[in-house]
Amino acid sequence: MKSPEEFLSDKGFAVAADIDRNLLLNAFIDEMERGLRGEKSSLKMIPAYLGVEGRVPGGSAAVVLDAGGTNFRSGIVRIGRNDATPEIEDKQMLPMPGSTAAVDEETFYQAFANEIQRLKPAGALPVGWCFSYPADATPELDARLVAWTKGIRAPGVVGKAVGSELAKRAGVDRIAVVNDTVATLLAAKAMEGEKCYSSYIGFILGTGTNVAYVEKNANIHKLSGLEPRGSMIINAESGAFNKIEQSAFDAAADARTDNAGAQRFEKMIAGAYLGDIVLEIYKSAAKAGYFSADVAAAIRGLGTLSTRHASEFCAASNSGDNPLYSIFTGFEDIKMANRLGVPVFERAAVLSAVHLAAFALKSGGGTDAGAPIAINADGSTFYRTQAVPFADVVRRELDEMLTKRRNVHFEIMPQIKDAPMIGAGIAAMLRG
Ligand code: BGC
Repeated sequence: MKSPEEFLSDKGFAVAADIDRNLLLNAFIDEMERGLRGEKSSLKMIPAYLGVEGRVPGGSAAVVLDAGGTNFRSGIVRIGRNDATPEIEDKQMLPMPGSTAAVDEETFYQAFANEIQRLKPAGALPVGWCFSYPADATPELDARLVAWTKGIRAPGVVGKAVGSELAKRAGVDRIAVVNDTVATLLAAKAMEGEKCYSSYIGFILGTGTNVAYVEKNANIHKLSGLEPRGSMIINAESGAFNKIEQSAFDAAADARTDNAGAQRFEKMIAGAYLGDIVLEIYKSAAKAGYFSADVAAAIRGLGTLSTRHASEFCAASNSGDNPLYSIFTGFEDIKMANRLGVPVFERAAVLSAVHLAAFALKSGGGTDAGAPIAINADGSTFYRTQAVPFADVVRRELDEMLTKRRNVHFEIMPQIKDAPMIGAGIAAMLRG
């Protein structure tokens, strides 16, 4: 019988060591350039109509909504005086409308309008909405939803400008809508203190994934009339990148999603999908005789596997509710499950790093060690994956690809709590 690593590779699964980093880096940059020219590309490269020059005056505040994959949060973001860390007051977390069952447009907006009503008595504050889905931004900081990702079902919202639709229903003048990557990038800028950075990247790796970075206006060929010496934040929608081969396991897990065929890159690295890829591998390996008969039968009966459970099991930790611990009981089966599961997380970390490196290179920053590129990462998959030391692998890979090979300097910033909410608040304050 072939080794588990050969088994994976026979099905088109590239383990971390086999990923052709340079090829992928160039493919990413190619797609970015196409997207910026307005040509057909899997990267939408959405201009955010925000730069990184603005400074929020101390003492400002904004009502903020944060629509994520499973939850939505709300609260008031307050920027203190003298570079103090921004505070979030009156915080609340509710289920994201459309995440557990399909909702119509009115029900969708009502959930957010209620939160604006709850927080509005705090005064006439601007409203910011961190909207973590692919949406075309407008110069007024509204956003037209292109399609839902992360399994949200609220079809009536697609194609509409979500900011003005919500403003109408909530009785406010306007709402500044920004993608979570753009918000995370803005939060990095706001928290830089005395540090000197040459560019900024906002990276989300949670339920979904995406990157925002700063591009020179002169390279954003699809927009005319921009100040040629200026720059603008671009929401790349990197999760949709598709110049990458899917393994048989990726394809099988993808086929079971609501948006089969879309978000190919996201489905290889983000939290909504890694558990199901591990499950596909286990099922296929069970069929091929890699597990004992009892395990093979039990695995066949498992319908879905969360990323948390897969990651925890591969790290030999157990929070008590993990179905894999009742399936894999013998030492040999556990060892095999580990060898087949860990590569999924290793690959995710390497792919995350390769795409971050591509955006870092595209930004043109980091050529001077005294002014590195700031990378601000947010999201549960980046910080809470247990199967591999995720952030360390990303840092090591970036160090190799950027600093050692290309003399490009970067810094992964210490985690900024609630970065997407803080950044959405900043966008609303900048817009006023
Ligand atoms: C969405 C992006 C978002 C990312 C991270 C993706 O599914 O398309 O807009 O930034 O998830 O939340």
